[in-house]
Amino acid sequence: MSVKKVAVLGAGLMGHGIAQVAAQAGMIVSLTDVEQKFLDNGLEMIRGSLSKFAEKGVFSKDEAEQIFARIHPTLDLDKAVQDAELVIEAAPENVDLKKDLWRRVDQYAPSKAIFASNTSSISISELASATKRPERFCGMHFFNPPQLMKLIEIVRGARTTDETMSTAVQTCKALGKEPVIVKRDVAGFVVNRIMIPALNEALFLVEEGVADPEDIDKAITLGLNWPMGPLRLADYVGLDTALAVAEVLQKELGDPKFRPSPLLRQMVRGGLLGRKTGKGFYDWPR
Ligand code: 3HC
Repeated sequence: MSVKKVAVLGAGLMGHGIAQVAAQAGMIVSLTDVEQKFLDNGLEMIRGSLSKFAEKGVFSKDEAEQIFARIHPTLDLDKAVQDAELVIEAAPENVDLKKDLWRRVDQYAPSKAIFASNTSSISISELASATKRPERFCGMHFFNPPQLMKLIEIVRGARTTDETMSTAVQTCKALGKEPVIVKRDVAGFVVNRIMIPALNEALFLVEEGVADPEDIDKAITLGLNWPMGPLRLADYVGLDTALAVAEVLQKELGDPKFRPSPLLRQMVRGGLLGRKTGKGFYDWPR
């Protein structure tokens, strides 16, 4: 199935970027969230990103306007998904919240629509079980910022069919992204299974006084050629997100090596979430 109409649930850090990428690929996008201020913020981030691309000549200003016009914001979930061929959920990493959302989406979306969650760590099979179409449910895990990052992990749940996987892969390519198939619905999939322990370990190094945050980042950018050091990356993805994923990895995989560092917990409790709150290991001017 070639997807032309997409609904994106959540206009936050990931959702706004996913909506933009779909609109850039020519798809008609409805973007929904629970409060007008979240929609407004998402649309503002999309405008900012589109003008960066237009300034660089990726497309013209007129094309940027056309892309923006393909994104239809609404607070009405029913309206957002009523014509969707694909629904991509990018809601906060809370299993009950996501299951409740999917239960409602299942009632309003056309029966042939495919459902995909952008969850970083929650079981796709569990989310799918909140709907009456687990065979049409998969994971489409984008990376931050979705506008620039090439990868989408396409995750098979316990009951996902080959046809659903194939539609997700086809859509990923239509979005100009590269798919990696995650054959089993295991916590952390591939990237987070590797990235989160690395970020967490960097926090332990800070706690143990082994090196300063800037030097840890310098070591990894210069020593491993990462574009960002692990602490800047933790700020970039959000310390709350990193903690939520680490907790799921620890619970699901039962290995002490995934234990979140106390410093990570402390910073999250103190609201030092990184880019999204303006302060984490670094200052992020707004
Ligand atoms: N839209 C359009 N353009 C953007 C943009 C956006 N959203 N974000 C950044 N840019 C542009 C910048 O304006 C800049 O343009 P310029 O070259 O004209 O100045 C260019 O991209 C490069 O950006 P920066 O100068 O700010 O910085 P970098 O060169 O470091 O590039 C980056 C930014 C692409 C984010 C790079 O640092 C990077 O790849 N970092 C690692 C990101 C990463 O690992 N993401 C995955 C996180 S894990 C995840 O998402 C999974 C989840 O489940 C936790």
